[in-house]
Amino acid sequence: MPVLVVNVDHVATIRQARMGREPEPVAAAQLCEFGGAQGIIVHLREDRRHIQDRDLEMLKATIGLNLHLEMAAISEMQDIALKTSPHMICLVPEKREELTTEGGLECKGREQFLRDYLAPFRDGLIHTSLFIDADKYQIDAAAEAGTEYVEIHTGHYADAGDPVTRQNELEKIIAGIDHALSLGLKVNLGHGLNYQNIFAFARMPGIKEYSIGHSIVSRAVMVGMARAVEQMAVIIRGFVD
Ligand code: PXP
Repeated sequence: MPVLVVNVDHVATIRQARMGREPEPVAAAQLCEFGGAQGIIVHLREDRRHIQDRDLEMLKATIGLNLHLEMAAISEMQDIALKTSPHMICLVPEKREELTTEGGLECKGREQFLRDYLAPFRDGLIHTSLFIDADKYQIDAAAEAGTEYVEIHTGHYADAGDPVTRQNELEKIIAGIDHALSLGLKVNLGHGLNYQNIFAFARMPGIKEYSIGHSIVSRAVMVGMARAVEQMAVIIRGFVD
């Protein structure tokens, strides 16, 4: 059965807007657990724009769910990940100027580098995943690099501006999933998945995890807005002149 793994980066994004204490991503992760998530994902970026090192440490120490760490394939992150020992790491490309992860990891031609980078994780029994586009050559290279999982990038599908492009992207993803499974890879999906487009990926055989962040945090803001205002309004109405 596929599981939902929630990315809480954007809870930290709101906190970092004021560099303050709230909202607390660790508390959000616990609420994700109450809601039925089976894992929590954070992306510790090199520039620390949202998740901080202390978030990762506190999540590891406090949540009962599997913790996944998205990270760039750099030695700083390798050290942090080996020290933290999450359930799974997922290697993603990272550019400082991007708003979010824009494309899949370039694996073709870097198979040996990735194999070496992943080796200590395999030895430490930490599951490994590579975030890649649904491209046959990247999938072949990911398998060659010895990863256990690939996360197929659904963002190009999610962002498609017209039905023809969307259908083409969906077909690429379906072919990519089939190819990855045929090579013995385990397959996750993620990026840009929301309450509408998730249905395109329902009941696809072989998917282990759906990795979803932005749409869930956005929905949380909206479904919680009236209640949050009501709570402040009650306080203010209670003031006496
Ligand atoms: N998977 C990967 C590899 C990502 O980088 C992200 C965004 O951090 C996600 C999934 C979640 O994407 P979204 O926030 O669009 O749901």
